[in-house]
Amino acid sequence: MLRRLHPEQPESFAFTAANQQWAEAQITKYPEGRQASAVIPLLWRAQEQEGWLSRPAIESVADMLGMAYIRVLEVASFYFMFQLQPVGSVAHIQVCGTTSCMICGAEDLIAVCKEKIAAKPHELSADGKLSWEEVECLGSCTNAPMAQIGKDYYEDLTAESFGKIVDDLAAGKVPTPGPQNGRYAAEPLKGLSSLAEYEAGKPQYNASVELATDLSDTVKRIDGTEVPILTPWLGKDGKQAGASTAAKPPKAPETPKPAVKQAAEAKAKPEPEEAKEDQPETLTEARDGKPDDLKMLKGVGPKLEETLNELGFYHFDQIAAWTPEQVAWVDARLKFKGRIERDGWIEQAAKLAAGEETEFAKRAKEDGTYED
Ligand code: FES
Repeated sequence: MLRRLHPEQPESFAFTAANQQWAEAQITKYPEGRQASAVIPLLWRAQEQEGWLSRPAIESVADMLGMAYIRVLEVASFYFMFQLQPVGSVAHIQVCGTTSCMICGAEDLIAVCKEKIAAKPHELSADGKLSWEEVECLGSCTNAPMAQIGKDYYEDLTAESFGKIVDDLAAGKVPTPGPQNGRYAAEPLKGLSSLAEYEAGKPQYNASVELATDLSDTVKRIDGTEVPILTPWLGKDGKQAGASTAAKPPKAPETPKPAVKQAAEAKAKPEPEEAKEDQPETLTEARDGKPDDLKMLKGVGPKLEETLNELGFYHFDQIAAWTPEQVAWVDARLKFKGRIERDGWIEQAAKLAAGEETEFAKRAKEDGTYED
C-alpha cells in the first residue's frame, strides 16, 4: 500500500501549549546531538492531538528536532500506526484481520464497517465522525475477533456487538472497552479451570479496562491537560544538571542547553550569573545581493535559513562573530533553543567564512542534502 501525504493539507500545525511543553521535555531525555531520537514520540503526540499527521505537523516536528523534512516523512510513512490522512472526528476504528480474528469473524466486523462507516478503509463516514481500516494482529488473539478503537481494545466481538459499539460512538457515547461477551479477561470461554478461588472479590473490570475507564480518554484527542507532565529524568526542581527545564523555555537566559555543557558550566560556576542578551549587528539585505548558503551549516535547513535571513543574518562571517551574549539573543528568537551551541554554528561558520570546508558542507554538496 502506498503511503503518501494526503492531497489536502491544513495551512499550519501547532502543538497546544501543554503538548509543546510535553514535547520539549521529551527532547531533554536524549543526549546532545541525539534529539532526533524523539521523533516517534513527537509524531505520536501530534497524531494524538490532531487524529492524523499532516504535512505541517511533520515539518513542525522536523523543525523542533533539527531534522530534514524528508527524514521525518520517512518515519511517518514507514510506520502504519501513523495516519497520513484525516480520520473520523470521533474515532478511527482498526479491525484486526489476521488469522485468529479472521477465522473468528473479522470479516463480519469489516462488513459492519462497510455498512455503517464507509465502503472503503480510510474513507470518512458521511458525517465525518468515523473512519476504519483493517490492521495486522494486535496481539489480542485469545479474544478474537477484536478491534482497536482510539486507544483501547474491544474484544470478543460479534457483528451485533460491534455494530452497537459503532452506533454508540456515532451517538457520542464511549462504550466500555474490553471483552464484549461477558468474559473478564482472557480466561477460557467456559470459565476458570484453575485459580477459581480468586474469582470472588475481583474488581469489576480487568486491569486494562479499569485503567481505560479511569482515564476515560479512549477516543479523546490528547491536548496535554489529561495528566501532569512528568519529567523524572530531570531533578526535583525540574532542572537538569543546573540548567532550566525545557518545560519553561521562553526566556533566553533560561534556554535549555546540552546536558554536557550544563554540567561543565555548573561545575565551573556554582552560582551562575544571569546570562545577558546582546543584539548582534544585522543587515537589511545580503552584501552585494549575494547571501551565503547558510544551509551549509549543520542543523540549518531551508526554514531556519529563512528565519536567519529575516533576523538580518546572511553571511558566515556574521555568525562566526557572535559573542556568547549575542548567541543568547539569536537563540531566544529561534523556535527550538540550544541549536547554535549544539551544532557548533560558530566554529562551522568561522571555517566556511575563511574559505575552508567543513565535513558537513562537503557531504551536503556531494549528496545534495543540507540538514543533518
Ligand atoms: S489475530 Fe487478531 S489480535 Fe491477533
